[in-house]
Amino acid sequence: MPRKLFVTTALPYANGAFHIGHIMEYIQADIWVRFQRLQGSDVIFVGADDAHGAPIMLAAEKAGKKPEDFVAEIERGRKPYLDGFQISHDNWHSTHSPENTERSQDIFRRLKKAGLIYTKPVEQFYDPVKGMYLADRYLKGECPNCGAKDQYGDACENCSTVYSATALKNPYSTLSGAKPELRTSEHYFFKLSDPGCVDFLREWLGTPGRLQPQVLNKALEWVDGEGDKALGDWDISRDAPYFGIRVPDIAEEKYLYVWLDAPIGYLASLQNHCAKKGLDWKQEIAEREQIHFIGKDITYFHTLFWPAMLKFAGAPYKEPDHVYAHGFIQVSGEKMSKSRGTGIDPLRYLELGMNPEWLRYYISAKLNANVEDIDFNPDDFVARVNSDLIGKYINIASRCAGFLSKKFSGKLVAVDPSNTLVRDMQLASTGIAEMFDSREFGKALRDVMSWADKANSFVDQVKPWDLAKKPGSESALQQACSDSIQIFRILTIFLKPVMPTLARQVEKFLNVPELKWADAKQLLPAGHAIGEYKHLMQRVEEKQLDALFDIQPAPETKKEAAVTDGTISIDDFNKLDLRVAKIVKAEHVEGADKLLKLTLDVGGTTRTVFAGIKSAYAPEKLEGQMAVVVANLAPRKMKFGVSEGMVLAASGESPGIFLISPGAGAEPGMRVK
Ligand code: 2FM
Ligand code: ZN
Repeated sequence: MPRKLFVTTALPYANGAFHIGHIMEYIQADIWVRFQRLQGSDVIFVGADDAHGAPIMLAAEKAGKKPEDFVAEIERGRKPYLDGFQISHDNWHSTHSPENTERSQDIFRRLKKAGLIYTKPVEQFYDPVKGMYLADRYLKGECPNCGAKDQYGDACENCSTVYSATALKNPYSTLSGAKPELRTSEHYFFKLSDPGCVDFLREWLGTPGRLQPQVLNKALEWVDGEGDKALGDWDISRDAPYFGIRVPDIAEEKYLYVWLDAPIGYLASLQNHCAKKGLDWKQEIAEREQIHFIGKDITYFHTLFWPAMLKFAGAPYKEPDHVYAHGFIQVSGEKMSKSRGTGIDPLRYLELGMNPEWLRYYISAKLNANVEDIDFNPDDFVARVNSDLIGKYINIASRCAGFLSKKFSGKLVAVDPSNTLVRDMQLASTGIAEMFDSREFGKALRDVMSWADKANSFVDQVKPWDLAKKPGSESALQQACSDSIQIFRILTIFLKPVMPTLARQVEKFLNVPELKWADAKQLLPAGHAIGEYKHLMQRVEEKQLDALFDIQPAPETKKEAAVTDGTISIDDFNKLDLRVAKIVKAEHVEGADKLLKLTLDVGGTTRTVFAGIKSAYAPEKLEGQMAVVVANLAPRKMKFGVSEGMVLAASGESPGIFLISPGAGAEPGMRVK
């Protein structure tokens, strides 16, 4: 049955470029959405930037921009990623928008009217130099338990004690270094602990199939917590200065906390879309199942606050029908940092000309409906893409299409009634559809590839290349190739949610209109003429993966560059820890075209650095030479090992790479400024 759906992806903070974690979520949601559309469902699929909050305000200030300009610039950078990875959002908007102000203030007023909002004074640290209240992350001091210095305002990294910021000894503001003052201000709270609210949450959570079991259990733990684990009320306001939406109907300058207006951004994006399309957003909400794809780290907001807010705001607002959480993506086993991402830069992937559908296929082959982390492994990526997509799927068409066009003007004959493979695949389409629908993409693709294996065995068995040479075997050849093409068409339908562009190319080649899921149950009629076969997909080459991992600007620097026109402050420069280093050992790296492995003496400590200087230096010539190394670069996992820094070298338009070395007399470990 076709469904009416409203689907969202989590809203990314508008203070940095997308990393591979974002792209993974968009790919997951997009495949699901495309599958639903292939089934005839009507989907509105939206995203938006999460533009508000103190970190974004401070990042804008640092970049010397107004926050609205800063986030607008970030927003403009989204398109190449979303288009590049073929994410079929119907709309992309921002929480810093008139629609979101309207919706957030409306929801706030309604919750207030429902008696679920109250105020209470909150004592908090205030930075007298910056003139602002400080969130825990902007406070440091000595741990009240073990005395360790420079600990953050929420927990000690040394002894793991969790405390509140006001317990820190000798606290200081990380923004100005100033000693913070305790001040009190009135905050607004959402009464999540209200018995009506808790009852509602139990009921909402209890609806079968709404959440994944793992997410449900966690949410129930929060709802049923007792003592100091009991469900607390939610502080939903912030004092000025803040970049956000004003608390309505009061003279004082207070703002709604970013996490209140962020999910409302889903509705703002829907409203914005509806306005463009001449639709009534209220009616669209009422008629559609509401489904949110999110990361496992933000289930608290999406399974407690968000449904409660919507419920008690009342119609036209409506609670979500499903929240689907996914795990994180690691690269070669390395955990991703939320701000820095991992070793894969999605834009670089595209710039290198790597096919986005390889990544869509690889990621989806690893995804299931559980909240599990997945790993991107470069060797596995090459093997999977080449063996599954090229070796199994594409191979079927490339082995059979040529004979049809050369010998039979592309014309097919009806499927051989004794060919059970075609019929079995048609029957299997229902099961595969269920797997896509339940987000078991890995299972679905394993199944599809097992059909591709069977299809290849069929081709091996009928041997069109032998039949083509054997006089009098024309009709057997046409039959064998026709059946293979019918099979290839069905496989294309199965893969279409994952690889939409490839499917479009196949539709052209097969000379058929846009394939829908139900078309798997139909066959091409006898006499249908397919077009000329053109190569459909390149193999991924190992050197592309080398390029993806080897030469890569540090994501932090790139992010800054995107928003500062290249100008940096002296503080930015001082962040670099440049050191004189002695190259004690230089070696070739097996399998790497550009890299040398350097062992550096950085003044008493040694480090391993992989440097892309192989074309310019013989390793034995380097040993004993001095160089300059960026010593505080986060270690980077590369294909060949971990690189603990970067040596500086010059290069330009003309060929050559030239290592930077200090003047005579410099000693390893000296600071370069
Ligand atoms: O964790 C994050 O990246 C948030 N910006 C997600 C917000 S999702 C939704 F609530 F807007
Ligand atoms: Zn401690």
